[in-house]
Amino acid sequence: MKQQLEQIRSAAIAEIQAADTSLEEIRIKYLGKKGELTAILRGMGSLSAEERPVIGAVANEVRNCIESALEKRGAELKKIALANSLAAEKLDVTYDAIAPKAGHIHPITRAMERMTEIFIDMGFSVAEGPEVETVYNNFDALNAPADHPSRDFQDTFYITENTLLRTQTSPVQIRAMRNATPPIRIISPGRVYRSDVADASHSPMFHQLEGLVVDKGITMGDLKGILSQFAKTMFGPETKTRFRPHNFPFTEPSAEVDVSCFVCGGKGCRLCKGEGWMEILGSGMVHPEVLRAGGIDPDVYTGFAFGMGVERVAMVMSGIDDLRLMYENDARFLKQF
Ligand code: DAH
Repeated sequence: MKQQLEQIRSAAIAEIQAADTSLEEIRIKYLGKKGELTAILRGMGSLSAEERPVIGAVANEVRNCIESALEKRGAELKKIALANSLAAEKLDVTYDAIAPKAGHIHPITRAMERMTEIFIDMGFSVAEGPEVETVYNNFDALNAPADHPSRDFQDTFYITENTLLRTQTSPVQIRAMRNATPPIRIISPGRVYRSDVADASHSPMFHQLEGLVVDKGITMGDLKGILSQFAKTMFGPETKTRFRPHNFPFTEPSAEVDVSCFVCGGKGCRLCKGEGWMEILGSGMVHPEVLRAGGIDPDVYTGFAFGMGVERVAMVMSGIDDLRLMYENDARFLKQF
């Protein structure tokens, strides 16, 4: 029996030392209720009174020995598992990170910021006005009479009888004149709305940049000087400007302004559609009635004003020929700029 016990001990120890996962099975196999050691202890009843304490002592020693081997190996296995998981889950902080996908400034915003910057450098400050405007500021104060076609429901989004989504940034002129005494030198970039069906050159919402200068002795020469300088800074020093007579209710005289095509220099190309010139804005000397509506005496002061299409400038700068592309927000398109 003693020999049997010794065999159990060495077999158990060998198994325990070789185990690399759970030790529970081994424990049950030897020390469990139906285990090998337990079976031997049960058979002790058949031993003589002298043998029983001797074998009992050996059996106890074998049990202790197996238990401590289990404990020791258990601790080792825990350490190994920890080391393995530390190795497997290691974070290499020197590894190149995956760069987050950053967007960039929209071509319209970029054009607007650049235009604003150029006028700020020439001494203008930025004035703001609401997109929901009074009919009075948007039309009447700007000398657009009640029968002016742009006032039609077909062309303008009315909110109420007296308020609308502004159709132009020009009402900011009225607000600026009422808020300050000359000299006034402001620009006002922002959104405007017209009841147009979207196509390659129309959108129910677009952007304008308004400008207004009012002081004593302002002439058409100042208008031409400022706008020519703007065109050179914006499109390049070789850029020429062309002032074509036009008609706006709020200016007299009025002019539309073209810039020479910065791609072909005026010879005619795809970008300028063979014209050599590209129209970018409307302008003129502020009408005396408009000065009056702004609370300014037209016998003392004169001024000039202009309104540019921001989309037009952005499209010209980036060679984009369909306005709708600007608003579809397709990242594949926007990424190109
Ligand atoms: N408001 C005009 C438009 O939307 C543009 C414009 C023309 C603005 C002449 C002006 C100006 O200030 O003087 O077509």
